Amino acid sequence: MRFQGKVALVTGGGRGIGAATAQLMAREGAKVAVSDMDVAPAAEVAGPIQGIAIACDVTDRGQVEAMVERTVKELGRLDILVTCAGITRDNLLYKMTDDDWDAVIDTHLKGTFLCARAAQKHMVDQKYGKMVFLSSTSALGNRGQTNYSAAKAGLQGMARTLAIELGPFNVNVNSVAPGFVETRMTRATAERMGVDFEAFKIGAASQIPLQRVGQPEDIASVIAFLCSDESGFVSGQTIYVRGGP
Ligand SMILES: NC(=O)c1ccc[n+]([C@@H]2O[C@H](COP(=O)([O-])OP(=O)(O)OC[C@H]3O[C@@H](n4cnc5c(N)ncnc54)[C@H](O)[C@@H]3O)[C@@H](O)[C@H]2O)c1
Repeated sequence: MRFQGKVALVTGGGRGIGAATAQLMAREGAKVAVSDMDVAPAAEVAGPIQGIAIACDVTDRGQVEAMVERTVKELGRLDILVTCAGITRDNLLYKMTDDDWDAVIDTHLKGTFLCARAAQKHMVDQKYGKMVFLSSTSALGNRGQTNYSAAKAGLQGMARTLAIELGPFNVNVNSVAPGFVETRMTRATAERMGVDFEAFKIGAASQIPLQRVGQPEDIASVIAFLCSDESGFVSGQTIYVRGGP
């Protein structure tokens, strides 16, 4: 029960890694606000864990500020922010449109910036907070992902900077960089490439030292560690969770 008495807000919580994180934190005592631009899956996650579901597009400042205010109003405080909202719009550079660039940068980078800025007010006031941003191994470079890899590398810099700015207020800020995780996102990538998802997973697993792809729970457990007081002296770090170095 590492999160007894704590309130967590998870963006992109309706599916995949965000949903697994919301469920794990609730199991360990947190009250959880499950936020997603698609409110129906968010409500499906929030229901069984007695959380609240909030419709929020993280690219919209007004919606983000309202999401944070509603969390504090209905759940009493805000201790933990996990930013999982994410999309891909992959293409080789010569085919990547302005819209592909803007959509990905806005969702990951601007979205996380808006959420962190809205959340820090409460965390600074109470001199306690944990933020975890979802980066990716694509931050190290990945063909067809100029937009996504730039955003995911940017999030690591954002976490390091906010760790410096918010550390004096007892707020830890870290990022987690997953490799291949079996979610709607990787399924959509396989579909776009015209590859059967099972074959796609086998191919990915063969490149991973642990010889399997990740599951959302593999990532949620590391996010939870970084949001718990067990990692109280860890800040500004990125943990790669990819079944190998
Ligand atoms: N799946 C992977 O292999 C993998 C690897 C590395 C990093 N990640 C990152 O982990 C995070 C979660 O990914 P996932 O695999 O669980 O994906 P997912 O598609 O299963 O879930 C992402 C959720 O984000 C929501 N979302 C998208 N845009 C949004 C917006 N503007 N505002 C609010 N919500 C929005 C979607 O509705 C969806 O429910 C993402 O940031 C992703 O980039 C995933």
